[in-house]
This record gives sequence, C-alpha cells and structure tokens, in this order.
Amino acid sequence: MTFAELWESLLPLGRDAGTGGYRRYSFTDADLACRQWFFQTSAERGLRADVDANGNLWAWWDPPPAALVAPGAPRPGAGGAVVTGSHLDSVPDGGAYDGPLGVVSGFAAVDRLRAQGFGPARPLAVAAFCEEEGGRFGLACLGSRLLTGAVAPQDAAALRDGQGVTLAEAMTAAGLDPARIGPDEDLLGRIGVFVELHIEQGAALNGLGAAVGIAEGIWPHGRWRLDFTGRADHAGTTRLEDRRDPMLPYAATVLEARQAAAAYGALATFGKVTAEPGGANAICSSVRAWLDARAPDQPVLDHLVGQVEAAARRAAAAQGVEVGVHRESFTPPVAFDPALAARLARALAARGITAPVLPTGAGHDAGVLAARLPTAMLFVRNPTGVSHSPAEHAERADCEAGVTALAAVLEELAGP
Ligand code: GLV
Ligand code: MN
Ligand code: MN
Repeated sequence: MTFAELWESLLPLGRDAGTGGYRRYSFTDADLACRQWFFQTSAERGLRADVDANGNLWAWWDPPPAALVAPGAPRPGAGGAVVTGSHLDSVPDGGAYDGPLGVVSGFAAVDRLRAQGFGPARPLAVAAFCEEEGGRFGLACLGSRLLTGAVAPQDAAALRDGQGVTLAEAMTAAGLDPARIGPDEDLLGRIGVFVELHIEQGAALNGLGAAVGIAEGIWPHGRWRLDFTGRADHAGTTRLEDRRDPMLPYAATVLEARQAAAAYGALATFGKVTAEPGGANAICSSVRAWLDARAPDQPVLDHLVGQVEAAARRAAAAQGVEVGVHRESFTPPVAFDPALAARLARALAARGITAPVLPTGAGHDAGVLAARLPTAMLFVRNPTGVSHSPAEHAERADCEAGVTALAAVLEELAGP
C-alpha cells in the first residue's frame, strides 16, 4: 500500500462536512473509528496491535526469535524497542496532519523498510497516544502523561469534559478499565528510544527550503482556566453602576494577555470562552475562559502568567466580580536528547537529506516522553505554517520525504 492509499484510508474519519475540520475527541465515535483504523492497519501488516491501560495504541513489529535467525546473522537484542508514532485525536476543527501524519508515516516507514528487505534487530513499534490535544478532557498529552506518571491516575480519572462526563466514565463506555490507568514501568522499560514525526506548526522549514527538520526543544507552555463570577441581570434596566458584569474583567484580561505576551516575546491566547446563561439581552452570571500561554523559558512564562492573573484579579475586583484561576495543563521546557538528534542528522545526511534543527512552541507527546526516554522529533514542512485549522496542509512530496527520513532513522536505530 502506498503512503497516499494509507493516508486516504484515514482521511474521512471524524471530518466535519461543514467546516472540513476534524473533530476526533477521545473516546467519541470519531476516535473509536480512528482506533479501529489503527487495528486494521496493523493487522494488514501482521503487526501485533494492543491498547495499553491508558488508552494508547501500539503496533509491534517483533524481531524474529533467536532460533529463527540465520547462522552468522546478528542476534536480535532483547528490549531497547524503537518506537515511533504520534496521535490521532484533534483540536476542534483541527487539520488532517497534526498527529495523524506521524502515525501514518510510521506505518508507511514499516512498509518501506520491509520492501527494502530490512528486518529489525530489536522490537519496533508504531504508537498512537491518547488525548494529545486535551480537546475533550483539558489535559494535553494525557495518554503519555499517564504512561510516564506525569499525572496522578486519580486526578486524571476525575477530569470532566464539557458535558460533565469523567474520563473514567468515557473509558468505561469505550470498554477500557479506568481502575488500571497510571504509570506503566514495564512498558516504558521495554522502550529504548522514541521518535515522533510531526507536521511543522510554523513555516521555518519553508523559509529554509527544507522538506524535513529535526526538533531541538519545546517552549514551556500550559493552559489556565479563569472563572469570572458576577450577577445575572436585565440588559435593558440595570444601571451601569449597579452591574457586576463578568464580561468586563474577562475583556480586560484578554487585552492584558496580548500586551504582556508582546512585551515578553512570548505567546498568550484566549481561544475558548463560554458565557452563562448566554442571553443576548442579559448580563451574564459567569464567564469561563482558557488562557494558553507559551514562552521561550520558564521565568518568562511565570512572569507572563503572573501578570495576566494579577490583571484579571484587579479588573474583577473593580467590577465586584469574583475570579478563580486554575492551571489545567502544564509542560516544562523540553530539550531533546542532543546526541540522539546528532545521530539522526548523521543518518539523514548519509542519505543526502539535510535536516535543519528547529525549536517549537507546540506541545507533543515526545516532550512528555523526553523526561523518561531518549527522544527525538522529525518535522515535515508546512508551506503556510497554519495548524490547528482545517487549512493545515503539507505537500504530498514532503510527506513522502518525511517517510523516507523516518524509515532511514528507524533503520539506523532498529538495525543490527
Ligand atoms: C498541541 O498541539 C499544542 O501545542 O497545544
Ligand atoms: Mn496539535
Ligand atoms: Mn500534534
């Protein structure tokens, strides 16, 4: 099967016909269809697929048992598995590539290696991590955080989606046992290295004229929920001075976040907001909004978020409104393993591929796994840089170049 056929077999799943964007939220029908696709794709390749206790998917290409290795051939190593992969879930109306490109490219690289007659000397797996975007339960990289112990299982199980459904309930409905979630040292201990291929979420490679890049590190980032609570009242009769309108401190906070981010050379975004009860002719009783903040280093991020929070408290007090600030998700700065990145660059250079090294502000499961494993990332050129949008795009030739690069890297890492 070609990359194009494999890519197109996943493309229709979870796509909204109106917007053309993807709505693949964990454990919904769209996500279950993607999981089914993963199992079928694994079965077609004779890969041993399973789902771990945290809802992450694994497709294993096992080396032959020692007894089957031809005399004189190198003996397969035990453990030290080489894992590649990414995620299949999406943000609301996400693009087709963020996540799925890494999973599809992983299977396509396996096909490519097999066609070349390559057999792994150690286990090689393609993985798809659960809820990378935090699009349903709010905590980004939930599956890799649970696997590595970066979130407590009881805290994760109690996370709720926008309808009040807990992660535990959603997992149970999907046939998984939420009592089993949590760190899996046995599984982690079997992995020697993780390499995630991902579409670039910026246009740096385009500027450099390169189809493929290597990640240097990830900016520290997180999301904070702000709850402004005021008092509902009549829009046509309540005097301005009598109002406790939570929309006003919310608006002031948005503007402060933008100004502070610009001043610090950082990024701050309010991309999600709800106002209750939501009458056009009523002052709302509450506004709930989410701040996504990212910065080149931790002290800058701390200052930025501190300044936004202080502004929210000041503006709320001035309007007789209460405000609560709750950190939902956080990833400290990540520096990917420099020796591994250099090894990848050498393996690519040996095949005539020049891969520039880039930092990124986007979060990835590789960033979470980097705390426990030697980890690297490959980026594939995004000509416009647009991501988290239906307009996200990568040229087919660049996707093919990504598969070539990933296959070369897997050959280097899983070869004898
Ligand atoms: C995920 O793509 C993130 O950076 O939030
Ligand atoms: Mn994303
Ligand atoms: Mn992603």
